[in-house]
Amino acid sequence: MKLYKANIIFTREKDKFEIIENGYIAVENGRVVGVGTDANAFGEADEIIDYGDRLLIPAMNDMHVHAPQYRNQAIAMDLELLPWLNSYTFPEEAKYINTEYAERMYRRFVHDLWRFGTMRTVAFATVHLDSTRLLMNLFREAGMGALVGKVDMDRNAILPLHESVDDAVAKNEALIAEWNDPDGLVRPIITPRFIPSCTPAMLRACGELAQKYQLPVQSHLSENPSEIAWVQELEPESRNYGDAYDRYGLFGQTPTIMAHCVYTAGEELELMSRRNVMAAHCPTSNLNLSSGMAPIRTFLDKGIKVGLGSDISGGHDLSILRMMVYAIQVSKMYYCRDKSKHFLTLSEAFWIATKSAGSFFGKVGSFEPGYEFDALVIDDSDLNHSHYSLLHRIERFIYLGDDRHIVHRFCRGQEIPEPRIFD
Ligand code: GUN
Ligand code: FE
Repeated sequence: MKLYKANIIFTREKDKFEIIENGYIAVENGRVVGVGTDANAFGEADEIIDYGDRLLIPAMNDMHVHAPQYRNQAIAMDLELLPWLNSYTFPEEAKYINTEYAERMYRRFVHDLWRFGTMRTVAFATVHLDSTRLLMNLFREAGMGALVGKVDMDRNAILPLHESVDDAVAKNEALIAEWNDPDGLVRPIITPRFIPSCTPAMLRACGELAQKYQLPVQSHLSENPSEIAWVQELEPESRNYGDAYDRYGLFGQTPTIMAHCVYTAGEELELMSRRNVMAAHCPTSNLNLSSGMAPIRTFLDKGIKVGLGSDISGGHDLSILRMMVYAIQVSKMYYCRDKSKHFLTLSEAFWIATKSAGSFFGKVGSFEPGYEFDALVIDDSDLNHSHYSLLHRIERFIYLGDDRHIVHRFCRGQEIPEPRIFD
């Protein structure tokens, strides 16, 4: 058993921070045994690691990001979703037929997730088998957790990204056979891109794969008004966008995460709640693609699980810490229009990014007993130049801090060293 000593901050519930000044976390076999101020409360420690006056917080989880859009980060944000996909996104993703290009970009991507303290990621790759496998191997090599989706699509993209349903199934099954450890840190996730990219046959095949191999599902939901209208044309029988997924077994039949959900309301909202579908809230993407503001307060009130996603390259910022700030700010604009939807508090945003998001991976995102020890050590001494309370220190780190303040990173109990960018 190891004991880590620091100022410990986490959220058991969304409404308040747990703050333990000069506290100890006992960790054994990668999991938290307990937290408190008495070093002797957890039995004999093999080692005590003293981080002094630093902060120790749960690591970040990115619940929606497109790894092959990393080159497009922070460029090309002058269009709305559908023309943006055609003009910028599909041509970039087509390059991932080339595994040398993929390796160069994916190494930098995994490295930079590490930089910003993101230890668990739910990622879209591309339609290509080899570069998707490569991304999974890079996560494994780094020791970081990831659900990685080979993207499935067979219509309305560009020809090099179209594949037959049989090919898509064969590629998914190849990855599933290679990555079949249910306790593995890196796992496949079934990834129909969104309804407009997938024929009914492809959607059906995706639902069957998820069911047969009991795998989670990720996709996009109700992000943009033109997209939603198009889905209604393509799936005229469906009652709403969520129902269009549901008809193919892709809406909570296995654990499901849907990105955006900006326009989710009414029956779609009820279905999401009933089926326990998690929303990946991507505030920067929703701003950059002028998609809109997601009803996060409504999700919380309904008990719908929410996590935060960078959605690179719709979003421009890979830091989930800064994503908390954007989520709060967007919720304040939402509140300006609708005073019945109170804006997010800091502890709520922190809980969404850590414990709520982490629940998609199991017991991740908190320091309660039994949780996997995913953690960041923060040296905020340059931000703590006057006397600040621990509550104000975490607030200042979230609003003012950056990757330079993150001095140690842990995933499942292991300290994660800096991944190599070049081999
Ligand atoms: N909907 C379908 N594909 C995408 C994508 O790559 N990014 C975003 N933001 N939305 C999508
Ligand atoms: Fe996306």
